[in-house]
Formats: sequence, structure tokens, C-alpha cells
Amino acid sequence: MKNIKGMKVYVEPSYEAMSRVAAQLVGAQVRLYPNSVLGLATGGTPVGMYKELVRMYKEEGLDFSQIITFNLDEYYPLSRESDQSYYYYMTENLFGHVNICKDHIHIPNGEAEDVDLECRNYEKQIQEAGGIDLQVLGIGNNGHIGFNEPDDAFAKTTHRVDLVEETIQANSRFFDSIDQVPKQALSMGIGSIIQAKKIVLLANGAHKAKIIAETIYGDVRPQVPSTILQFHPDVTFILDQEAAAELKKYEK
Ligand code: F6R
Repeated sequence: MKNIKGMKVYVEPSYEAMSRVAAQLVGAQVRLYPNSVLGLATGGTPVGMYKELVRMYKEEGLDFSQIITFNLDEYYPLSRESDQSYYYYMTENLFGHVNICKDHIHIPNGEAEDVDLECRNYEKQIQEAGGIDLQVLGIGNNGHIGFNEPDDAFAKTTHRVDLVEETIQANSRFFDSIDQVPKQALSMGIGSIIQAKKIVLLANGAHKAKIIAETIYGDVRPQVPSTILQFHPDVTFILDQEAAAELKKYEK
């Protein structure tokens, strides 16, 4: 583990090792503080971590019964029953396999009629739960965290976002065709994310190398939303070697 500008950076030899280390960190939080509030991410990156957490539940009795979760985002509009919804993803990858209580799970409603109300309520529910103890993040190639796309200002709270073309392209791999990718999403804001007590960001693959170096060493600015993490007091990056490759350029 390296310490870079106050941020902890783990560089692991493979995707599997990255996933195991991430699951160890999340698992330790669950074991030590069984009523933790977890912030969770979807996408390709954390699939291996969820698989390992399910294994820890089955083989080691990791207990999720008091855990409360808030997911970062959901496509809009999209029914939670759709195979591509993040609700479906979470059921498939984690919630359907562990002893979490259904009413402890929170994911923005991609079918909300009153979007502003849904976003306000989501934020209120996070506050009422006492805030997020540990937030898991992936990262977009453009530095988005949650679905906070590059912008002229950091979005504070949960809100509706227009997905940029690059994100629609990147996520089309999960849909039958690019036309099916929703053009919007509901996402926790940068403000909601940054208030989490601890943040763990996972990234793997050569395509993430540039944005990881920029996130850690670049100027903090809303045009690269992930750079805000430099200001957070407790951030851990868990990377595979490929995603960490460009950090060397900045190391003395
Ligand atoms: C997902 C999310 C996104 C993803 C990011 C990376 O809930 O909030 O920020 O973490 O788009 O996605 P993958 O892991 O598919 O590369």
C-alpha cells in the first residue's frame, strides 16, 4: 500500500486480487460495525468484489442483516424489473444472495413520476440513516463518479443527470443496442458522495490508467469530477496494475 498525498493506494496484480482486497475492506466494515450504512456502485468493476462478499457470507457467515445500503445511481427512465436496471444488477450480484433486509436497500427509483421529490427524498433518507459510513465507487473514463459527469460546477445532492455520449457509448455493452441506453440517470451528487466517512474507489484495466493518474495528481476541478476525492480525508484506491500504470509518470 502506498500513501499518495494522504490517499491510500493499493496496486494489486490482477482483477481477482483487486476484488478480494476490496471485499476484505467492505467485509471488515460489516464485521466491525454490523449496522453500517454502505454506499454501493454498479458497473463492470465491482462484480468480482460482490462475488467475493457473497462467498464471505456463505462460507464465513458475514452478516448483512443490519446493514443499510444506498446505491449511487439508477438509469432514468427505466423500470426496476428491466435486466439493465441497477436494481436488477444489485439483486443478481449481491442482494439476492446475502441476508440483507429488503427494506434496508435504497436505489433511486428510475420510474419516479416526480423526479425532484424522489431526489429530495433519497437525500433525506441518507441523512436519516446517519450518513454513509463507507462508499464504494467505480470511475468513468471521463472521471465521473456516480453519474456526475464533467461539468462547470460540482453537483451537491441527488439529482437527474444527462448522460454524456461517452458514457452512453461505454455502457452500451450492457444493452442489446446503443439506442436502448437511457439518456438520463438519477445520481447521488458529488456533495452526497464526499460526505461519506470513508471512500473506496476501484478501477481495473488499461483504459482507466489515464483517469486514475488525473484523479490522484490532477488539479481539483468539476470538469474531472473524481479529482474532488483529493479533498476527502479517508480515500482508498484499489487498482489493478494496468489501471495504476500511469501513476509512475508522476512518482519521483
Ligand atoms: C455505477 C457508477 C459509475 C461506474 C462507472 C464505471 O453505479 O456510478 O460511476 O462506476 O461508470 O463503470 P465500469 O465499472 O462499468 O467501468
